[in-house]
Amino acid sequence: MKQMLEEKLRNRKAKVGIVGLGYVGLPLAVEFAKAGFEVVGIDLDESKVAKVNAGDCYIADIPAGVFKPLVAAGKLRATTDFGAITELDTVNICVPTPLRKTKDPDMSYIISACQQIAKYFHKGMLVILESTTYPGTTAEIVLPMLEAEDIKVGRDFFLCFSPERVDPGNPKYQTANIPKVVGGSTPACTEVGALFYSQALEIVVPVSSTQVAEMVKLLENTFRMINIGLANEIAMMCGRMNINVWEVIEAAATKPFGFMPFYPGPGLGGHCIPIDPFYLSWKTKQAGIEARFIELAGHINGQMPMFVVDKVQNALNDHGKPVKGSRIHILGVAYKKDIDDVRESPALDIIQLLERRGAKLSYSDPYVPHLRFDSKELCSDEASMAQADCVVIVTDHSGFDYKAVMEKAPLIVDTRNALKGVVSDKIVRL
Ligand SMILES: NC(=O)c1ccc[n+]([C@@H]2O[C@H](COP(=O)([O-])OP(=O)(O)OC[C@H]3O[C@@H](n4cnc5c(N)ncnc54)[C@H](O)[C@@H]3O)[C@@H](O)[C@H]2O)c1
Repeated sequence: MKQMLEEKLRNRKAKVGIVGLGYVGLPLAVEFAKAGFEVVGIDLDESKVAKVNAGDCYIADIPAGVFKPLVAAGKLRATTDFGAITELDTVNICVPTPLRKTKDPDMSYIISACQQIAKYFHKGMLVILESTTYPGTTAEIVLPMLEAEDIKVGRDFFLCFSPERVDPGNPKYQTANIPKVVGGSTPACTEVGALFYSQALEIVVPVSSTQVAEMVKLLENTFRMINIGLANEIAMMCGRMNINVWEVIEAAATKPFGFMPFYPGPGLGGHCIPIDPFYLSWKTKQAGIEARFIELAGHINGQMPMFVVDKVQNALNDHGKPVKGSRIHILGVAYKKDIDDVRESPALDIIQLLERRGAKLSYSDPYVPHLRFDSKELCSDEASMAQADCVVIVTDHSGFDYKAVMEKAPLIVDTRNALKGVVSDKIVRL
């Protein structure tokens, strides 16, 4: 089985399947199609499937000039039918892994995808889980759903975990050139998984088990979340002492060793950093270890939207305006610059908190024309900035005309240091 699959991978005759065509799955599908494989994407969302088949790319990081020709050449197609797996040699699972309201992992997407895969699964296949999850998921949840008396892992099929590390909006590092860590259920699985990725991606980093690979991703994101928490706490301290935190970090970052800059902001956002560390703390709790750094950083980061709202209120008061009735314009609602993703965006909390204090809110974001959350619907309206009593820069998109913002706004709360170097009494920085 191993030799046959390796042969198909080397000569690019293997048929590749990607389950979940979102920010992670679609760019991966494109890389394998570019490498010459026939790729089938499977997603429950009919509108995404229709878009892929029409050559209409909905992920901003994939150039349209690359996407359309791959679809036209028959290298990439999509379906809602898991029956396609009967014809496939490999399947990557890239479905969401959110948290429940209780902050427990929501494994329902992985379980539902694996139930479907198990129906059409056959000998000789390689299955790779890419969704971020707690250590042990591949061995404890995925493997038992696929293995049976007559079909053994490492002999009849191959199972791996490989963490997705994509950074949407990053022009330098994308799916193809971010090193790919992969760990298999057995050494044979790791070998097949590493061979698979090496056909389409630049650097592959094999590790000894699925658990190690799962933990790698959680270490990376926990490291980031905790360091952002530290930067946020330092920002709060500097705020109290009237010190410019941005200047402090910039100067500290000149140290050529032993320091890595992280920056404060209005709060965490996206599908990874605010969520993934809680997968780890949930798992370790079961082993009797309290993840204290994670809980603490979660607490500090969670305070940031309120910290920003207090800054806005104080800044308005200093200008003789109560927050109640003031017109506040939120500049940028995506959770980070140059992307269209608003999942977990701190802008949503900031809008809600300011509305609760009686402010009248508007927003503009070229990446997010409509904002729907909490039974509210807002439309991006750049013109309303001119009438605002205060503009709050929540996302520092590169395309914003900051000079125009400086001209139009009587008061600006800048949570991202987007107006770095600009000296003006009307700017209040984090
Ligand atoms: N977005 C990122 O920057 C990023 C980075 C690294 C890792 N991750 C991880 O990758 C995983 C996927 O994230 P994403 O951002 O691509 O999510 P996404 O929501 O953009 O895409 C997930 C896709 O899976 C589909 N789907 C859901 N259940 C399905 C099922 N049972 N069968 C088939 N399709 C199904 C959805 O319709 C959606 O299109 C998550 O575990 C996430 O934590 C995301």
